[in-house]
Amino acid sequence: MKTDSKISTKKSWAKALALPAAEFPLTQLSVKSGKIPEGLRGTLYRNGPGRLERGGRAVGHWFDGDGAILAVHFTDVGADAVYRYVQTAGYLAEEKADRFLYSNYGMTAPGPVWLRWTKTVKNSANTSVLALPDRLLALWEGGPPYRLDLQTLETQGTDDLGSLDSEFVYSAHCKCDPITGNIFNFGITPGLKAKLNVYKSDYTGKIVKKSTVTLDGIPLLHDFVLAGKYLIFFVPPVRLNLAPVLAGIGSYGDSFEWKPELGTQILVFDSETLSLVSRGETDAWFQWHFANGFVTENGEVAVDFVRYADLQTNQRLKEVATGETHTDAEGTMSRVHLNPLTGKVTQIAELLDQACEFPIVPAAEIGQASRYIYLAMYRADVDIVAERYGAIARLDTQNGNLTIADCGENRYPTEPIYVPDISSEKGWILTVVYDGNSDSSEVWIFDSDGLDRPPICQLELPGVIPLSFHGTWKSAV
Ligand SMILES: [Fe+2]
Repeated sequence: MKTDSKISTKKSWAKALALPAAEFPLTQLSVKSGKIPEGLRGTLYRNGPGRLERGGRAVGHWFDGDGAILAVHFTDVGADAVYRYVQTAGYLAEEKADRFLYSNYGMTAPGPVWLRWTKTVKNSANTSVLALPDRLLALWEGGPPYRLDLQTLETQGTDDLGSLDSEFVYSAHCKCDPITGNIFNFGITPGLKAKLNVYKSDYTGKIVKKSTVTLDGIPLLHDFVLAGKYLIFFVPPVRLNLAPVLAGIGSYGDSFEWKPELGTQILVFDSETLSLVSRGETDAWFQWHFANGFVTENGEVAVDFVRYADLQTNQRLKEVATGETHTDAEGTMSRVHLNPLTGKVTQIAELLDQACEFPIVPAAEIGQASRYIYLAMYRADVDIVAERYGAIARLDTQNGNLTIADCGENRYPTEPIYVPDISSEKGWILTVVYDGNSDSSEVWIFDSDGLDRPPICQLELPGVIPLSFHGTWKSAV
């Protein structure tokens, strides 16, 4: 007798990724509880993989899903939202073919190996967003951004920010200096010796300065930090084994190798001139995300980031796409002190001894000392190997106090975005929550000083928004 002995161990978060997300047009949102604050006026944008399957084939990694953007506009008459896929060239071609056609971060192109050599990598436009005065950019690590209408999210093609570089790569974690309005970012040009291109734009996005540094091999570089007048990169000891990628038999994600003997390389740039100030080297670790950086009273630089022991986190995030995670790979919030003139690390300390991710500080405090870090973490007493983040929190870096908003069983918040009130000193924390109990998504608004209290407002979204990566806030004034 045939029996189904395989019992699913999937947690509730898997339902948010199981089906391709459906777009929805601009829709007035129902208030489920509370009231939208009068000083909350502007738009929340979020980006993340909207679909992890096509034509019956699953993607190879969570990072491979086509980018879909959520915009939630807060106005004097309420809140409305729109959710649309970024209409990249690759997305449109695969929509038409109803099957995957390209390689990606975690998957090789379909078909015979010899035909894969000519296939390009699909720009998934799925990682983050940059809100400029006249357009929204959907960002991805391996190519140019896509330009979207701020209101409707209509895709208007790729955007080179005025660069004349034909192989323009503009990564997903740009940094906006709240003092000068300048926007900094980088892009890696692959090669036997990769090039790190550093960009400075004015507040409109137009690139006004660029510099290039040659790297040793091709590292996995996801984020960097603005600290006072410095731009700082921690280049982790991860290098791409290019041969299987070029041969079309291995994906990028599967071909990154952990080489702790290389240590973490530190690059410090001057944000005014984009010239390299110093290079240093320190212990081996891996990081995806920085929280913030600042210059201390004695002229050192402090950098806060989520530190991982190794690259196993890449395997864990690959497993997310399958709806089941088995790899234990979490990072903790750490602070490094370094001398910016020598690149030498003087101190490494742990700020929070709990698994966390998606650290954020208020946009007005980027590059300066910032007391609070907002982040995503696990609910207490859950199996953190099988689960996803079910809480958001505020870490007080002055005294280590942690204020936690537990979103409840089977509920999964996204990266908490800090939003300044337009008419007071208050701030709000916005997060999009997938509720596995009702298979629906909501926008939750917290008082930034009251994460230990219930949300002050909950808004119902018209459809499920899959777990996403990064977002931003664009104020109405
Ligand atoms: Fe990221």
